[in-house]
Amino acid sequence: MFRNDLLAEKVILITGGGSGLGLVMARAFAAHGARLSLVSRDRGRLVAAAQELDPGGAVHVHAADVRDPAAVQAAVDSALARFGRIDVLVNNAAGNFLAATEDLSANAFDAVVRIVLHGTFHMTSAVGRHMLERGAGTILNILATYAWTGSAFVVPSAAAKAGVLAMTRSLAVEWGGAGIRVNAIAPGPIPTEGAFSRLLPTPELEQSARERIPMKRFGEPGELANLALFLVSDASPYINGECVTIDGGGWMNAGGQFNQLTRIPREELRERLRGFRR
Ligand code: NAP
Ligand code: COA
Repeated sequence: MFRNDLLAEKVILITGGGSGLGLVMARAFAAHGARLSLVSRDRGRLVAAAQELDPGGAVHVHAADVRDPAAVQAAVDSALARFGRIDVLVNNAAGNFLAATEDLSANAFDAVVRIVLHGTFHMTSAVGRHMLERGAGTILNILATYAWTGSAFVVPSAAAKAGVLAMTRSLAVEWGGAGIRVNAIAPGPIPTEGAFSRLLPTPELEQSARERIPMKRFGEPGELANLALFLVSDASPYINGECVTIDGGGWMNAGGQFNQLTRIPREELRERLRGFRR
């Protein structure tokens, strides 16, 4: 879809780049010429990902918990020491689980919100200061469609992702004049071990999640990677403050008052609707 040199020489820092969608984006960025820094808590996972991406050792890794501002600053300093600059930041790290809200402890709420909202802020502020000095940069935040619809049973994540959406739009304005673009992607379900083991842990839940998507399938990691490639590259220089949804139309299907009618076989439904005419 893109030329192999789309991201030639760009330095990209990805949080949560050692697994799931972060690793898929890392592979796509590397295949298009980017130099990478991967940051998350589990050093072993980061080293394995870096080895896969470039056995020659060109990928930088730094273990840090994004909830800890000092650890985040150390990760950014370490990436800058290696590459001299950061052109692109992808805030992809997240924590989430299904829970009835009345069952959440204060610590459970904190754990998710501090990873998603505070972690994104810590990383954005550390990298943003560097980008402001350079007068250039692109930030991409990975959200979820319930950032604006809300969702039962993932209240800490929904609240935090909504906060990151507000941060995306706020900084697009605040830093746009300094040459920094800030955008977001809101994916629907895309199979990864981290997300599906926590959020769709049974075949029944998976099936019902699939059925609420008009296209009747989950997203593919490569589809998200293509969108991320476009948004972080110089192919989208005038896109700023945008959140692009990639969910097969899922959130609209679940949100519309009469969408459940799609469960009735098409021809039968048409017949019945015609019968309702007055
Ligand atoms: P994942 O593999 O579990 O990714 C989460 C990543 O975040 C892991 O690499 C993890 O690495 C890192 N992480 C978690 N807590 C961290 C912390 N405190 N500090 C630093 N890094 C931390 O799941 P995924 O599906 O790829 O999710 C990636 C992103 O897509 C998330 O923002 C998620 O909300 C979003 N998303 C996913 C889906 C989906 O269906 N897959 C749908 C909507 C949105 P360590 O364990 O090494 O720290
Ligand atoms: N339901 C209710 N509470 C839960 C829970 C669940 N499924 N899982 C964890 N918690 C609570 C814990 O009980 C604890 O609260 P407590 O101290 O009052 O008992 C609190 O959340 C923190 O849990 P802990 O395991 O200490 O947190 P952590 O910092 O080690 O891990 C998580 C953070 C909980 C978000 C963990 O799921 C994680 O590391 N996730 C990263 C990957 C991920 O979520 N991927 C999906 C992205 S879409």
